[in-house]
Amino acid sequence: MASENIVWHETTISKADRQSKKGHKSCILWFTGLSGSGKSTLANAVEKELYQRNVHSYVLDGDNVRHGLNKGLGFTEEDRKENIRRIGEVAKLFLDAGVITLTAFISPFREDRNLVRSLVEVDEFIEIFVSASIETCERRDPKGLYGKARAGIIPNFTGISSPYEEPEAPELVINTDKQSVEESVAKVISYLEEKQII
Ligand code: PPS
Repeated sequence: MASENIVWHETTISKADRQSKKGHKSCILWFTGLSGSGKSTLANAVEKELYQRNVHSYVLDGDNVRHGLNKGLGFTEEDRKENIRRIGEVAKLFLDAGVITLTAFISPFREDRNLVRSLVEVDEFIEIFVSASIETCERRDPKGLYGKARAGIIPNFTGISSPYEEPEAPELVINTDKQSVEESVAKVISYLEEKQII
């Protein structure tokens, strides 16, 4: 067993200490949605606004994390599960560090997202469903991946040959078919203010 003889060690400085020093709480803003729905665009735009307000934040992004930490993981159900599990643990560490952590992963499976939710306190996990129709995402096709998926060059492509399970009770829904980036950012920021996170 890998976890035998391992004892949890409480840190001297707590999450609450770190948060009070920064002057804001920490949380995980979990953006989920199809490829091309606008997850990364939104996460980055929200981070820009937080940065301007001197809020300590960090974006974990699918493509980038797959270049390093999760290099070697593909897009089978098993690999996606492991991808999200690891990201969840990393996000929890950032949360503990007092940082508002924005994650932009397709995270297509409800069970995997709920697993991350279960790792942290209620109110610390804010699921944001970035909703856009598959037609819209396919029309945008910013990386040309839908074209390749339709041609059968990319297997297991979310929305085409691999499922996407929509969140059942997300804290926020942003419809990028209809809402501008500015409106969407304002919605997320208002939520953080209402919950007194910032
Ligand atoms: S997942 O499902 O959460 O594990 O995926 P994620 O880590 O977010 O990675 C998604 C990005 O990988 C590219 N890509 C694919 N996406 C979906 N299905 C397949 N088969 C695939 N192959 C490569 C794609 O650029 C995704 O980025 P986004 O930003 O979502 O478009």
